[in-house]
Amino acid sequence: MRTQVGIIGAGPSGLLLSQLLHLQGIESVVLERRTPDYVLGRIRAGVLEEGMVQMLRRAECAGRMDAEGLIHDGFEICFGEVRHRIDLKKHTGAGVMVYGQTEVTKDLMDARAAAGGAVIYEAENVALHDLDSNTPKLTYQKDGAEHEVVCDYIAGCDGFHGPSRRAMPENVLKEHERVYPFGWLGILTDTRPVADELIYVNHWRGFALCSMRSMTRSRYYIQCAFDENLDEWTDDRIWDELRVRLPADAAESIEMGPSIEKSIAPLRSFVAEPMRHGRLFLAGDAAHIVPPTGAKGLNLAASDIHFLSNALIAFYQDGQTDLMDSYSEKCLDRIWKAERFSWWMTTVLHRFPDQNSFDRGVQLAELDYLTSSEPAQAAFAENYVGLPFE
Ligand code: APR
Ligand code: PHB
Repeated sequence: MRTQVGIIGAGPSGLLLSQLLHLQGIESVVLERRTPDYVLGRIRAGVLEEGMVQMLRRAECAGRMDAEGLIHDGFEICFGEVRHRIDLKKHTGAGVMVYGQTEVTKDLMDARAAAGGAVIYEAENVALHDLDSNTPKLTYQKDGAEHEVVCDYIAGCDGFHGPSRRAMPENVLKEHERVYPFGWLGILTDTRPVADELIYVNHWRGFALCSMRSMTRSRYYIQCAFDENLDEWTDDRIWDELRVRLPADAAESIEMGPSIEKSIAPLRSFVAEPMRHGRLFLAGDAAHIVPPTGAKGLNLAASDIHFLSNALIAFYQDGQTDLMDSYSEKCLDRIWKAERFSWWMTTVLHRFPDQNSFDRGVQLAELDYLTSSEPAQAAFAENYVGLPFE
């Protein structure tokens, strides 16, 4: 088949790009190796920056988010058993939208289906070809047959483990990585959130986070060893550890219940440069990973797609290629700032196995300075709500 833009991956990046191009009359084909249910079954973060909210409105997919999402003007950081509120609205004029990534993906899936979009699930062995030619192509297998998609451009929205980044020539691609010596054990429960806003906790036993998906569905995380065996974490054991790490008033009032999802995620900072080679553009997790501490993963995918969709639209509508030429540099400028912020939040909120008393003293000083300095909170808040796209 022939299309204008071949997209690998039907996660938030690929679906958002396909939808934005469609609204400008630009054709795309999305190739996804999994089933829709599998994609929706991946539980991810749930904090949207204003930029992401605007992208969903631009994509005409914001109806359910506006109806069901929760606008949070701040959140708390707790250390030494003391809860400190960071007032995002006061410092930036903006808050964040609490709305699960699963819901974002479902809204985008529904929009593409309603428009008759070409999103092909269970596409196996997707491969990229002729990236330096004017007719790059994707091949894949489905239902026992070999298929080919000839296109003008390819968007690699296939996440950290996808084939796009690996299709970049080794002498072109540079990768930068830090792997953290711990993971996050997350549970989803149909219980009332312990507080109206998120609570990030630095405890000597390890990090904890109280989040939510709605006022009747809570999301909790506790730091654990990166090689932890999930089977050894019963719900009771998770609740017990969470209540040890939470401040006393929260530990006493938390509503416990059975987990409807339980998983362990590794933490990594990763950046691949450049994000373009020939007719291939990388976007989202295919090009970068952040530890979830700063809730930046989905929001960085949004800014990549902001730049990529604008570049493709400028090409197809006006024949311009300058936005394509500046795509990688513009994305990476914002990505590295979000990487730094996510690394810093991770560094000050977690217990590191090799942490000595000096390290612990510096951690507490960082948190004490942040929570006692208005200028420090203003700088922190502008990073948390999201730096401008341009
Ligand atoms: N062929 C086709 N599809 C593939 C392949 C492949 N070989 N490899 C991966 N994919 C698909 C995955 O199944 C997934 O649905 O690409 C999609 C990538 O989606 P994400 O991993 O969600 O990445 P992205 O769309 O960039 O969204 C970033 O998702 O992982 C979270 O924390 C991350 O919030 C961030 C957001
Ligand atoms: C979540 O709700 O899953 C969540 C919220 C904030 C984070 C990370 C995850 O920093």
